[in-house]
Amino acid sequence: MIEDWKSYEPLLIPDIPNLHKIDVYEENDGYSALRTVLNDQEKWSRTDVTNEVKAANIRGRGGAGFNAGLKWSFMPEPDDRPRYLACNGDESEPGTFKDRNIFEFNPHIFIEGALIAAYAMSVDTIYVYIRGEYIDWVHILEQAVEEAYDRGYLGKDILGKGIDIDLHVTYGAGAYICGEETGMLESLEGKRGYPRVKPPFPAQKGLWGNPTTINNIETLANVPLVINNGAEWYQSIGAEGHNGPVLYGISGHVNKPGVYEYPAGMSVEDLIYEVAGGIRGGKKLKALIPGGTSTPVLRADQLEGVSMDSNSLRDAGSMMGTAGMVVMDEDTDMVDLLWRISHFFHHESCGQCTPCREGTGWLEKVLLKIKNGEGEIKDLDLLLDVTTQMEGRTICALADAAAWPVRHTINRFRDEFEARCKKSVHAVA
Ligand code: NAI
Ligand code: SF4
Repeated sequence: MIEDWKSYEPLLIPDIPNLHKIDVYEENDGYSALRTVLNDQEKWSRTDVTNEVKAANIRGRGGAGFNAGLKWSFMPEPDDRPRYLACNGDESEPGTFKDRNIFEFNPHIFIEGALIAAYAMSVDTIYVYIRGEYIDWVHILEQAVEEAYDRGYLGKDILGKGIDIDLHVTYGAGAYICGEETGMLESLEGKRGYPRVKPPFPAQKGLWGNPTTINNIETLANVPLVINNGAEWYQSIGAEGHNGPVLYGISGHVNKPGVYEYPAGMSVEDLIYEVAGGIRGGKKLKALIPGGTSTPVLRADQLEGVSMDSNSLRDAGSMMGTAGMVVMDEDTDMVDLLWRISHFFHHESCGQCTPCREGTGWLEKVLLKIKNGEGEIKDLDLLLDVTTQMEGRTICALADAAAWPVRHTINRFRDEFEARCKKSVHAVA
């Protein structure tokens, strides 16, 4: 648990006016990590950079929490094939809106991190995939990329050090599934965003069949911090096993929703009551979705002493996900909430796998029945049964992401669901 958070100075998005402009970024030590690496490629060989990032244990901020440096190390030795870095800025998970702040307020820290990652993996082409709804932020990033080309940080012979790296910005058209890493690769190739079976993992067979690494935007923004300050320093920030700064996106029934940067491991209580100004109207907390809707909801009584890091959340019965915290007050209708979540996943299922295509449909339909007061208790067990038929049986994690909220919300708020069912039995009687 982080005690001294009030004195924390943001690292990813410091409070510096116009930091999105390259002059301001450079005045504040911007691109110094890239210079450090490229100026001394003997000390900072590609393997050394990867090892430093691996030792720092930057947990992937896109939701899965995978060690970024370890992921880089999965890239095969260079051969005659092209190699790619695909940066995932699709963030379509409900409750998740933090990468947007990097695009808006500090795009160069991300570009710098992506360049260092590309160097470490011998990649010469970077793609950035942004959700289509973020078109204004696409333009901000494009402007930053243009500035980086003009200053010699991108393109041919970067900083005169014999390294060539290009970066292309592209955007989606509103499909959640294009944020799934292999769906994103298909979309980048100009095809429908159908996820691919893994293995082979993208490191072996990614864009156009070539070695590719996919990293989240916030993950890459952490890389310059590690190079400038070292893995040990990075490890000293945050919680045991979950380090570094985190962009907490706090939404729902709080007085001050927004994106707040603090170390990993902040207490849930501090984040809700101090950082986000407490619950609207002085109401009581009922529940929290900690990291985007695919992470299991926790009741208020399960949150005592819980902090926002993977270990603490796992022990409490959930996951860190994207740290997109959805706060719900005592008046929240959990049946309505769950139906809305299920509607989302049904709408966004790509339809390739039967358990997902049919399962998400059944979840939504049965929940609508319960929401409308026409459900029976046995429908709750039917829902739980459908979730077990979906989990782990599909090409990508969307089916799991749809099943988990149903299972956990029903199990954790069973009385509320039963009460809605019972009402219909009485009404019929
Ligand atoms: P995952 O745990 O399957 O994989 C994590 C990463 O490690 C992937 O890049 C994968 O390719 C790589 N990897 C894992 N094992 C590997 C191996 N043996 N060899 C090579 N590479 C390997 O998780 P996934 O499917 O990438 O992401 C699911 C997560 O995404 C969920 O936890 C959810 O919270 C999050 N999510 C985030 C969204 C957002 O808007 N940011 C949207 C939807 C889901
Ligand atoms: Fe498509 Fe769902 Fe299968 Fe993922 S699990 S590939 S979203 S049908």
